[in-house]
Amino acid sequence: MSAPTLSGAGTGEGAPLATTDAVELALVVDGERVLVRAHPLERLSDVLRARLGREGTKVGCDAGDCGACTVLVDGAPLCACLTPVGRLDGRRVDTVEGLGEEPTGRALQRAFLRHGAAQCGFCTPGMLMAARALLADTPTPTTAEVEDALGGVLCRCTGYRSIVDAVCETHLELEDAPAPEVGKAVGARVARLDGAAKVSGSDAFGDDGVDPAALLVRIVRSPHHRARVDLGDLAAFVASTPGVERVLTAADVPGRNVHGVIPPFADQPVFAEGETRFLGEAVAAVVGEADVVARLDLARLPIAFEELEAVLDPVAALAEGAPRVHAGRAGNVLVRGLVERGGDVDAALAGAAVTAEGTFTTGFVEHAYLEPEAGWARMEDGVVVVQATTQAPWMDREDLAAILGLPLEGVRIVPTAVGGGFGSKLDLSLQPYVALATLVTGRPTRIRYDRIESMRTTTKRHPSSITVRAGADAEGRLVAVDVAADFDTGAYASWGPTVANRVPVHASGPYHVPTYRARSRAIHTHQAPSGAFRGFGVPQATIAQECVYDELALALGMDALEFRLRNALTAGSPTVTGQVFETGVGYRDCLEALRPWWERARARAGEATDGARRRGVGLAGLWYGCGNTALPNPSTIKVGLDPEGRVRLHQGAVDIGQGSNTVMAQILADALGVPLERIVLVDADTRHTPDAGKTSASRQTFVSGNATHRAGRALAHELARLAGTTPDDVIDLGLERGRLSVRSTAGLVAVDLAALPVDADGLVVACSATYDPPTVPLDEHGQGEPYAVYGFGAQLVELEVDVETGSIALERIVAAYDVGRAINPTLVEGQIEGGIAQGIGLALMEEWLPGRTDNLHDYLIPTIGDVPEIVSILVESGDAHGPFGAKGVGEHTLIPTAPAILNAVRDATGVRLRRVPAIPSRVLEALRAAGVGPSSHPDGSERRR
Ligand code: FES
Repeated sequence: MSAPTLSGAGTGEGAPLATTDAVELALVVDGERVLVRAHPLERLSDVLRARLGREGTKVGCDAGDCGACTVLVDGAPLCACLTPVGRLDGRRVDTVEGLGEEPTGRALQRAFLRHGAAQCGFCTPGMLMAARALLADTPTPTTAEVEDALGGVLCRCTGYRSIVDAVCETHLELEDAPAPEVGKAVGARVARLDGAAKVSGSDAFGDDGVDPAALLVRIVRSPHHRARVDLGDLAAFVASTPGVERVLTAADVPGRNVHGVIPPFADQPVFAEGETRFLGEAVAAVVGEADVVARLDLARLPIAFEELEAVLDPVAALAEGAPRVHAGRAGNVLVRGLVERGGDVDAALAGAAVTAEGTFTTGFVEHAYLEPEAGWARMEDGVVVVQATTQAPWMDREDLAAILGLPLEGVRIVPTAVGGGFGSKLDLSLQPYVALATLVTGRPTRIRYDRIESMRTTTKRHPSSITVRAGADAEGRLVAVDVAADFDTGAYASWGPTVANRVPVHASGPYHVPTYRARSRAIHTHQAPSGAFRGFGVPQATIAQECVYDELALALGMDALEFRLRNALTAGSPTVTGQVFETGVGYRDCLEALRPWWERARARAGEATDGARRRGVGLAGLWYGCGNTALPNPSTIKVGLDPEGRVRLHQGAVDIGQGSNTVMAQILADALGVPLERIVLVDADTRHTPDAGKTSASRQTFVSGNATHRAGRALAHELARLAGTTPDDVIDLGLERGRLSVRSTAGLVAVDLAALPVDADGLVVACSATYDPPTVPLDEHGQGEPYAVYGFGAQLVELEVDVETGSIALERIVAAYDVGRAINPTLVEGQIEGGIAQGIGLALMEEWLPGRTDNLHDYLIPTIGDVPEIVSILVESGDAHGPFGAKGVGEHTLIPTAPAILNAVRDATGVRLRRVPAIPSRVLEALRAAGVGPSSHPDGSERRR
C-alpha cells in the first residue's frame, strides 16, 4: 500500500481562516461603510460573500483564471478571489450589487438585458464590473477597447458578441422595446424574464443562500486511475478529531450505492467499494463543522490506496487480456449501435465513381461552465430537501430516493439558478453526499466543488475515433456511406448508450444516402465518465462526415455548396432510418441563405495566398433530432390563475441559461391570449411544478413548449367555460384586480376570482397538460422514427492559417439555422453564438488531460478575443409538430463549427487535419508533413474554384 494521496478540497465559503489572527477592517462597499473582522489574508470574495452576505459576486475558480468575481477596488477591476482583504482597509469596493444605484450602471444592466448578454448569468457580475470600469474612462468604447477591457472575464454561454454589443451601446441609453401586443409575444425580442436578477447579482446559484450553520462536506477521492482501497479505522479518526461528525462511506448508504442517468445501465457508486475506477473517484466524505473540515488535512485519514494497472484509452481497453473495467461487460464494450439501410454498403462503395475516406479523432472536452457544482441539503418535515445546481431535478429525485432508501416523496429537489450545464449537470455530482450527510446528521450540510474537483470528476465529451467512407456517382450524388465510430465512455455508463445510439442515426448528415451503414461502440476505460455534452457524440461524428464529404466534392471538382445542395434531404425523401418528413426540412434553405456569403468568401479566399498567411473558407452542415432517441420523452406543464388574476406558469423545465423561462411564458401568453406581463413564473421544484423532464437534447422549447401550449389552450377553455361561453366565441380576456372579464360574441361576463376556492398551489383555476413526441422505436437495423422533429443548419467559416506558426485566425462565421419558428430571436441568436464559441473551443484549443489540465489556467476555452464576428440567419420552416412551429436549437449550434473550420483550413493550405483540437503544434506538424510552408503555395487543383 502506498501512502494515501487525497484530492478533494471543496472548502466552500463560511470556512474562514483562523479568527485568532483576525483584524478589524473598515471598507466602503457599494457606498456603505462597513466594519469587518477577518484574517488579513482572507480572500475578498469570501469576505464579501460569507461575512458581508453579498453573494452577487460569484466565484468560479478561486485562482484568478475566470474573472467571475471581478469587483472594483477604488475604481480598478480586480479578481476578488486573489485580493487579500487585509490590503483594503479604508478603501472602496464596488460590486454588482451597487451597480443599479447609479445611471451608467443601470444603463449597462439594461443594455445587457436588451442584447441577451446574460444567459446563465454566472459570469455576468464580473463582466458588468469590468465593463463599468471601462465606461468610467471611456464612455463610448470601440469593439477593440471592450474586448481588451473584458479579456480577463470568461463566459461559457454567450460567445461574447452580445456582451461586446451591449457595452458599446450603453452610452446610447436606448429605450427598452415596448411589451408585445396581445397575441404577438411569440416572435418578439423579449428580454429574458429572469434577467433582472442576473444583472443585479441577486440570482441564487447552488452556493448562494446556504444556511450559515450548515455542516461542510468534503469528499475523499482516489489519487489513481485505478486503485485498491483500504478505508482503515475511520471510527477512531472521527473519535479523535473534534469538529468532525462523520466520515461517510459505502457502508453508510441506506439504499442503493449506485446511480446512473439511464436506469438499465446504472453503475456508478456513490462511494467506490474495494476498487476505484477513475482518477478522483469518491471513496468517503468527511462531514463536520465548517471551520474544522475546511482546514482538515485529508491525508490524516487512515485511507490507503494501492495503484492497480489501468486502461486509459479504447485501444488499450480492447486489447487481448486488458483489465476489465466492469466484470460483466465483455471486452470493455458497454454498448453497440447500428443503423443500416439500402443493402451492401461495400458493394455500393465499390461501384461509386469517386470515393473518399478518413479517420478523425477527438479528445476529452470539459464543459467548463463557470459555476462549479454546489448545493446544500436540509431536513424539512421529514423530507430531505436538496437545493443544488442541476439540469434534471426529477431524475435527481429518483436516484437520491433510491440511494437514501426513501420513497420518492421523501426527497424534494429545489434547483437553483444554474451557472451553465451543457449536459454535465444532468448527472448527479454533489447531491448524494449532502443528501446522505443531512439524512444521517439531521443537520443542514453544504458542499462546493473547487475548480479542480469539478473538472477532474464530472463527465466529459466522449473522445472518439471515427472512420467514414463515402462514395458518389459522377454527377455528385451520394451512393453509399459507411461509418465506424468508437467512443471512450470512461469508467461508468452515464450517457454512453445515448451517444452510441444517436450517432449512427446522425452520421449520414442531413443528406439523402441510399446505402448506409453506421456502427458505434461505447468502450469503458479507467477515465472519468464521459457523458452528455451539447450534441451527444454528433459533433464528433459530424467532423468526420462533413470533412469526408468535402473531400468527395474536391475529388469530383464540385463546389462544396453545390455538392451539399445536390444531396440535401428534402421533404419527402427518406432519412437513413427510413423516416419521411413532409414538412420542416429546411436544410436546403439554410444552404441557400449562405450562398451570397459563400460566393463572396470564395472570391476573397482566392486573393490572399501570399507569404505565411493563407486564407480559406469552409462549410459544414448538420441535422439534429430534438428529444430522446426513439424513447418516451414527456413533459408536463401546469398553469393557472391566482385570486389576483395573475397567470401562474408552473414550469419545471430548468432554465440553464438557454431561456426556457422566457420562451414558455411567450408561448403561454399567446396560447391563452393574455399580455405577457400577466404571467408569473413558478420556478422548478419537485414539490410545486410537474415533471417537465430534463433540460437536454434540445427538447425544452419543442417538448415542454408543446405542453405549455396545450396547458394554455386548456386554461383558455376553462376560463371561457367559467364565463359561460367557448374559446371560439371569446373576443378578449381581462385579468385585472382579481376579476376575470371575458368579452365574447354574447357580451361581457365578469367573474370574481377572489370568490373561488384555491388549490394547494394557491390557484383558483388550474390546468395541466402533457406532451410526448410521437416516435417509432428503431428495429434491429436501426430503422424507425427516432425523432418527431429535426433541426437543420449550416455554417461558413472564413479564416487565415499562418503556415509559419500553425496558428489559425478566425475572421467571420456565418450561421444559418432552420429553427422552425423563432419564439424569441434574441435568445435563438444567443444560442447560436454560444454554441459556435464552444465549437471553436472543440476545434482549436480544448483538450482535457486528467491530472494535467484540471483548471481554467491550463485548460483553455475561448476568450472574448477568440470569437470572431458571427452572422446569424434564422430560417423558419414552420415545423408541423412544434409549438407555433418551433424546434429546439441548443445543441445544433455547436455541431458544424469544427468541421467548417477544418474544411476552411483544407481550403487555405491543401492540408486535411484529422485530429482536434487543431492546436498550432499539430497544425504545424501536418503542414510540414505535407511540405507546406511560407515558401510553398497550395496546389491550385486542390482548391475549390
Ligand atoms: Fe456567461 Fe453563462 S452567461 S457564463
